[in-house]
Amino acid sequence: MTPTQDKALLDQEKQLTAQAALRWVRDGMLLGLGTGSTAAHFIRQLGEVVQAGKLRVQATATSVASENLARELGIPLIEPRRGLRYNLTVDGADELDPQLNLIKGGGGALLREKIIATASDYMLVIADSSKAVAQLGQFPLPLEVVAFALPWVLDAVAAIGGNPVVRTNKKEPEKYAYSDQGNLLVDCHFGRLPDPVVLARQLKTIPGIVEHGLFLGLARAALIVRDGQVQVLRAGSAPKPAADFAELP
Ligand code: 5RP
Repeated sequence: MTPTQDKALLDQEKQLTAQAALRWVRDGMLLGLGTGSTAAHFIRQLGEVVQAGKLRVQATATSVASENLARELGIPLIEPRRGLRYNLTVDGADELDPQLNLIKGGGGALLREKIIATASDYMLVIADSSKAVAQLGQFPLPLEVVAFALPWVLDAVAAIGGNPVVRTNKKEPEKYAYSDQGNLLVDCHFGRLPDPVVLARQLKTIPGIVEHGLFLGLARAALIVRDGQVQVLRAGSAPKPAADFAELP
């Protein structure tokens, strides 16, 4: 299979998982909208049913890009406020392991993504099959970092084996990339992560790291295509066809 065919197939999987997630969205729900190409499929499909008047929801997006997309599609948006809890957040992932620990932040939105996932009663991950791994760590772990702290953050991450690389702007590679909050993004190459809990704790002690892309214990379920079928993955139980669930699994 050529890389283009491969990409097209993975994109089809993303669409299928988005479609399966949409089946569980109910009228009146408050939703968190993720970021990235898979989440964008979900937002577009949600926009269609909202425009058709089949579903009334309110949502908060995890990035300016997702917010703009949702607004274009007529999905009503709400601002963060005290006491606000989302019924459901649907988001993508860069990697997910069998315990549903995630690496996120490939699209640079990890901070808002973690804030919204934490403010949600249910985080549902939708992802193409390339994202499911036995152990996290092949994908570089993203950090959101305050610019002033960058030199010391790089020293501290290097000291614990993270081989940090400051992310650059795709269009202007000589410039750094910035998050929606105006912070820098640093991609860490630790290699495989046998103990993400310990690493997450270590990263939290480094001043200047606003957030890291390890999402541990946040996702309740993930949707992945296997053998041509969308399957539900949950920590500690065997995969089941998404079609078996009338409500959120
Ligand atoms: C953005 C993210 C995305 O969820 C992650 O990068 C997956 O993206 P895609 O759906 O395009 O594969 O964490 O910060």
